[in-house]
Amino acid sequence: MAETVPVPRILVVDDDTEVRYSVNRVLSARHYQVQEAANGEEGVAAVKRSPPDVVLLDNRMTGMTGLETLQHIRAANPKQLVILMTAYGTAQTAIEAMKFGAFDYVVKPFDPPKLLALVESALRTQADIWSARGVQPVINSEDHKEGIVGASAPMQQVFKVIGQVAASEVTVMITGESGTGKELIARSLHRHSHRGGKPFVAVNCSAIPENLIESELFGHERGAFTGATAQRLGKFEVCDGGTIFLDEIGDMTPATQTKILRVLQEGEIQRVGGSETLKVNVRVIAATNKDLEALVKARVFREDLYYRLNVVRLRLPPLRERVEDVPQIVDYFIQSLAKAKKTNARKVSAEALAILCRHNWPGNVRELENMIHRSAVIAQGDTILPKDLPDEVRQSTAMEAQPAGLEALFDQLFSRLKATHPGDMLAQVQSAFEARDAASSKPPLEVPAAPAAPAAKAKKPAPKRK
Ligand SMILES: Nc1ncnc2c1ncn2[C@@H]1O[C@H](COP(=O)(O)OP(=O)(O)OP(=O)(O)O)[C@@H](O)[C@H]1O
Ligand SMILES: [Mg+2]
Repeated sequence: MAETVPVPRILVVDDDTEVRYSVNRVLSARHYQVQEAANGEEGVAAVKRSPPDVVLLDNRMTGMTGLETLQHIRAANPKQLVILMTAYGTAQTAIEAMKFGAFDYVVKPFDPPKLLALVESALRTQADIWSARGVQPVINSEDHKEGIVGASAPMQQVFKVIGQVAASEVTVMITGESGTGKELIARSLHRHSHRGGKPFVAVNCSAIPENLIESELFGHERGAFTGATAQRLGKFEVCDGGTIFLDEIGDMTPATQTKILRVLQEGEIQRVGGSETLKVNVRVIAATNKDLEALVKARVFREDLYYRLNVVRLRLPPLRERVEDVPQIVDYFIQSLAKAKKTNARKVSAEALAILCRHNWPGNVRELENMIHRSAVIAQGDTILPKDLPDEVRQSTAMEAQPAGLEALFDQLFSRLKATHPGDMLAQVQSAFEARDAASSKPPLEVPAAPAAPAAKAKKPAPKRK
């Protein structure tokens, strides 16, 4: 017996009988089941009774306006897809429609093929929303009060080192690409030290102009230079008893390097224009995304300062080297956003998660965080779907996932083998497999011997190439 496919049901809400009639005709011609409502109140009641697949909603109606109706409908059923119909394509309507969660909007008078295309696209999305196998939350955000998520081996190692060195006074240097969480880790080190109740002061060494750095770090006395109308405390003094986080140290000028070295060696500072020497007690944590060893070699970074800072080294791995952390981090960001009531998304579909796991993440966790925020805002239902991810991410990962690349590689390999070893190809393939298996110490893969040997001897046939 043929399976019956349910006919999509579309609700048209418009106070203009003629518009309802013409829209109904266009949709019925496609065999959609059309239901009509003559005003906003009727429309909301119809959705509450039985949610249709898509709602086409007029913007200007007597009584409840389209935008008001839209809000009531979305409140009654957050997964309901609504297309707003408007006579004027103004920026304001477009912005408001999307702000209140419309799937899209269409400008009257309609072009029937365009209206149909939009309805079809809404129906496809609707199907995706309902069929999305949301990945069950893997973490309990209560367990992540630290704000650092990651169960991969390299991150576990990072956590261990934090635990080992947090309580000591040792200087820590954190290295890692941009967005890998250097500042996050620095804050955690501070929180877990006995300085936790004292200030944590972050200084971005690359952002302070050369002529201000000394005053920023060490403060100045009144009248020390033009514009110094009052005494000002520097970061080191403000931070007394706490932890100073010297960020982007690879960008420090040589003059600043010398000044920092002095504080580290002597534990004392002098305000600009002052004669008093002040003792300061600060712990230093430094960070950079540069190759500091190369900078030392190139004599751009002082070697003595390098050794002072590089007492304990914490290397944060790029996200692409710990893909297994992606699902947890995604989950953590979605839950944090939902908790802050910033978005309605509660989970991510398995397909969208697969795309996120394949992405290369040049901007690391920060890039992932921004992408989840953006996608959770765009998502129509409670699940982030592939369509909510930026095009470039979907395309780049789709290309990587294409088996075509592998096919081309096989073709190349076979034509090379054909040219270099005519008639002896299978034996060559066999030895290649054996070499690979020996290298990875897996049991060797059975490949039938060269054509001369009877194929029946082989226990398992070699995978056939189409
Ligand atoms: N393991 C993690 N778990 C949860 N959030 C993380 C993690 N790592 C980084 N983040 C988040 O990613 C963002 C970037 O982290 P952070 O600012 O610490 O990176 P960074 O290495 O200092 O970057 P940059 O070099 O660009 O300054 C922050 O919002 C941070 O909370
Ligand atoms: Mg940083």
